[in-house]
Amino acid sequence: MDRAADDTPTSGAAADRPGRLVVEVERLVVGGVGLAHEPSGRVTMVDGALPGERVRVQLTSERQRMSTSSILEVVEPAPTRVEPRCPEVARGCGGCDLQHVEPSAQPVLKAAILRDALDRSIRRGDVEEVAVAVGPSSAPWRYRSTIRCALDGDRVAFHERRSEGVLAVTDCLVAHDLLAEVIRDGRFPDAAEVTIRAGVRTGERLVVVTPAVAAGTVVPDGVRLVGSDELGRGRRAWYHEEVDGHRFRISALSFFQSGVGGAEVLVDAVRRAAGPVAPADRFVDLYGGVGLFSEMLGAVEPVLVERSASSAADARVNLADAGARVVRSAVERWRPSRADVVVADPARAGLGRDGVRAVAGTGARRVVLVSCDVASLVRDLGLLTAAGYKANGIEVVDLFPNTHHVEAVTVLDRR
Ligand SMILES: C[S@@+](CC[C@H](N)C(=O)[O-])C[C@H]1O[C@@H](n2cnc3c(N)ncnc32)[C@H](O)[C@@H]1O
Repeated sequence: MDRAADDTPTSGAAADRPGRLVVEVERLVVGGVGLAHEPSGRVTMVDGALPGERVRVQLTSERQRMSTSSILEVVEPAPTRVEPRCPEVARGCGGCDLQHVEPSAQPVLKAAILRDALDRSIRRGDVEEVAVAVGPSSAPWRYRSTIRCALDGDRVAFHERRSEGVLAVTDCLVAHDLLAEVIRDGRFPDAAEVTIRAGVRTGERLVVVTPAVAAGTVVPDGVRLVGSDELGRGRRAWYHEEVDGHRFRISALSFFQSGVGGAEVLVDAVRRAAGPVAPADRFVDLYGGVGLFSEMLGAVEPVLVERSASSAADARVNLADAGARVVRSAVERWRPSRADVVVADPARAGLGRDGVRAVAGTGARRVVLVSCDVASLVRDLGLLTAAGYKANGIEVVDLFPNTHHVEAVTVLDRR
């Protein structure tokens, strides 16, 4: 390959063989993909590239206004680029798509992705200017306490990066040791999927096998096994976790944060955003799961709204001492009760119009919005602004180091 010809700039980029280019990566966008411009001015999305890098790429798909490309060579690497620590990344594992970035630099990149999406919304006039701060992260390795896996034969596998295929693995460097042992030693004949869960502070482990636990299934001693078929017939199975000394029951199908360290980081951020919650404050915990925020913020007689029967049942147990009223309902269908402080932590789809109507219907003076998706966060901020709230700060916390997932906590006040 003729490097000199390749590197001759043509409108900020250089070409060699058809479909091969050298481009300069401008920024990361939602999904953790690098954005660059081809010599023609068309945008190309470069998988695995970092801002400031000069990369030789191969176009992999082309449309009129945008193409995608993959890296052939990093000509000038970013100072934060590192060799992925996990050997499975080189084999094509799709689990960790940001392992090529030094862990301490990842939250900064994630905040920049959010800043960029937010700025476009501010320019459109949907949202007012708001500061974005980089907050703390969970530990970059061995932090996950729940992991959903595919199978290759009877061995635990992960989906391959940008492929339909699966890759059998013997370890996962972001899985807690309690999970890693199951990944290495577990055998799950005739399974389509397994979800491995652990209470890091209690040592309890639970594996949910879909569709059923077949003869020949092997797990390490002490691991509880349950089939999705049994759960569907009403069997209950759970484990316990402890967050800062507070004990939570978590059923097989109930949501819990990425790990106990992630839960603590997030709770601290929500606490900072909510400010002191007085015993007299009416506290509403929307999308409340098993009751993490109500319990950890010390809410008195909180109202928790949660759609999943499993999580709502756990919340009733976990919040018994707080005198909570747990409403098993979709937030969109709930008739809002009056509140002083609302914490809303929706799934990736965000609040949407109906969720925002429910939040605003409480009349809360302060709303803390916990978001795990940049696009839905930006849209929800626009909707909350239109509903009379002003965003007064956003903190990005990294609950999923080594992946592109962005978690953000926004504090909003009623005007
Ligand atoms: C991101 S989790 C947050 C759970 C909890 N706040 C926590 O920190 O553990 C979102 C929760 O919302 C629930 N959920 C999803 N869609 C919902 C809806 N439309 N209405 C009420 N709850 C919903 C899910 O079952 C899940 O428990």
